[in-house]
Amino acid sequence: MDVILEVRNLTKKFGGLIAVRNVSLALEKGDVLGLIGPNGAGKTTLINVVSGIYRPDGGRIYFKGSRIDGLEPYKIARRGLCRTFQIPKLFDKMTVIENLLVPAYAIEAESIYGKAVDTLKFIGLEHLMHERAMNLSGGQKKLLEFGRVLMLDPEVMLLDEPFAGVAPSIKEQIMKLIKELSEQGRSFLIVSHDMPSVFGLCERIAVMSAGEKIAEGAPESIRNDIRVIEAYLGG
Ligand SMILES: Nc1ncnc2c1ncn2[C@@H]1O[C@H](COP(=O)(O)OP(=O)(O)O)[C@@H](O)[C@H]1O
Ligand SMILES: [Mg+2]
Repeated sequence: MDVILEVRNLTKKFGGLIAVRNVSLALEKGDVLGLIGPNGAGKTTLINVVSGIYRPDGGRIYFKGSRIDGLEPYKIARRGLCRTFQIPKLFDKMTVIENLLVPAYAIEAESIYGKAVDTLKFIGLEHLMHERAMNLSGGQKKLLEFGRVLMLDPEVMLLDEPFAGVAPSIKEQIMKLIKELSEQGRSFLIVSHDMPSVFGLCERIAVMSAGEKIAEGAPESIRNDIRVIEAYLGG
């Protein structure tokens, strides 16, 4: 067992609201873990805490054996734990390739430009390299944000709703990229409402409801789990 990311008993409160309550998760090298649950379950908050946007109120987060809870987001990203946003946060007025170059200033690559071009080829946006980010489709924006994260060579990627507002062809493309990268040993935590994509892509799925993790297992067991069905039906 080669755990790369471990979230242990994580809790995050907003005033009186406990958005994440005592949640534990572990990711091994090459894992693709799905995280599903009704709106407001705490999925985005979990990603926000793990990526350093919020400090947890309880619990610990270990990445490659070291604690990262409380570290600033850029420090966590540079260690190799990166995330994307539910609504892509791009530099709208910059071009596609400039969007890849900005975060890459933090790394000491031989040729950042060459790496950006290779990344654009990999994600299939090379033809749009000099287009402004604001002119991309919803799916292309998701792809570009994914590419921006890849510029940092992350070992773990936390993807928040990567398929939301994405046309079917790009959805398939994103799934293919995730599969290819996980085969190279990169790990993913994928938060998504898109059940066919999650069930098709993830070997394991965790379920959150009202801040708590209520189930985790193989897709077949999750599909038939009565607690999961109840959470979705509001039971
Ligand atoms: N910054 C914040 N301040 C106050 N409440 C928040 C904040 N972020 C999220 N919440 C609340 O925490 C709960 C979980 O939200 P969220 O993590 O966005 O859920 P999900 O991503 O599963 O839909 C919700 O009740 C939401 O309103
Ligand atoms: Mg969310």
